[in-house]
Amino acid sequence: MKYFTTVNDVADANDLVHEALQWKHSPFASPDIGRNKVLGLIFFNASLRTRMSTQRAAMNLGMTCMVMNIGNEGWALEFHDGAVMNGKTVEHIRDAAAVMGLYCDIIGVRCFPTLIDKQADYSESVLLQFMKYSRAPLISLESATLHPLQSLADIMTIRECVDVKQPKVVLTWAPHMKPLPQVVANSFAEWALHCDYKLTITQPAGYELCEDFTRGADIEYDQEKALKDADVVYVKNWSAYNAYGDMPSVEQNWMLNDEKMKLTSQAKLMHCMPVRRNLEVPDALLDNAYSLIMKQAENRIYAAQAVLFRMLQTI
Ligand code: CP
Repeated sequence: MKYFTTVNDVADANDLVHEALQWKHSPFASPDIGRNKVLGLIFFNASLRTRMSTQRAAMNLGMTCMVMNIGNEGWALEFHDGAVMNGKTVEHIRDAAAVMGLYCDIIGVRCFPTLIDKQADYSESVLLQFMKYSRAPLISLESATLHPLQSLADIMTIRECVDVKQPKVVLTWAPHMKPLPQVVANSFAEWALHCDYKLTITQPAGYELCEDFTRGADIEYDQEKALKDADVVYVKNWSAYNAYGDMPSVEQNWMLNDEKMKLTSQAKLMHCMPVRRNLEVPDALLDNAYSLIMKQAENRIYAAQAVLFRMLQTI
């Protein structure tokens, strides 16, 4: 595997989920495969889980990590071909990415969307330029449209914790005070559908996601109807895709509560974190025994380890 940016980069996603679960049971089964190999983690945006879990995964395989917070500490990068660089940008991505590929055997890149330029965001222009100009295999650490390491950990968590043959999985929109990317929702939908889960997405009008990722899911605008008999409830906020980056007004209260959870079939609760407590989800739900948020965060290590292991086998 040279690239891990979407479920479509994986020959068999269910096999990868299985491998990730195996790494969880035996994290030190291959401690030397990464010896003398360097993982470069390039962050244009903040992170806790992705940064630490991916480093931990690399360490379990014997790799060395270099982390570059390029958004805060690097030269301002130019992404336009042919630009006359007489403004704020200091280095072109074609030079920066090529150099990083010389220093690292595998690179990971986190590059959030602008939420302003839909065409640039949804064409993954930043990630594609890294792939074009760096010779190194590349892992998305969350791009403008998808977050595959999170989704792999999420599917792994469902596989591990939900003892129902064909669970009903519900992805529900939650309130927030600022516009967030559609990334986690897009990615969860893409992976859940690819792994043949029965997925219902519930959201207020105006918050429809890009159909490229949700085709095959049931769309339900009545949240309580959607939650009925759910086995898994995945909570996430996202801003509008159609009116790109906007936050259309919502009259009803979309925050989950105990009464809404009672409509489900004793569902497990999921959220990728970071979570704004009592704005997106109440404390009482996040800290309940049915909450899987800590399992999801823990499984980020083994999702990354499964991906790194596959890449290390090919370099
Ligand atoms: N869920 C997730 O990706 O967390 P971070 O943004 O902290 O990495």
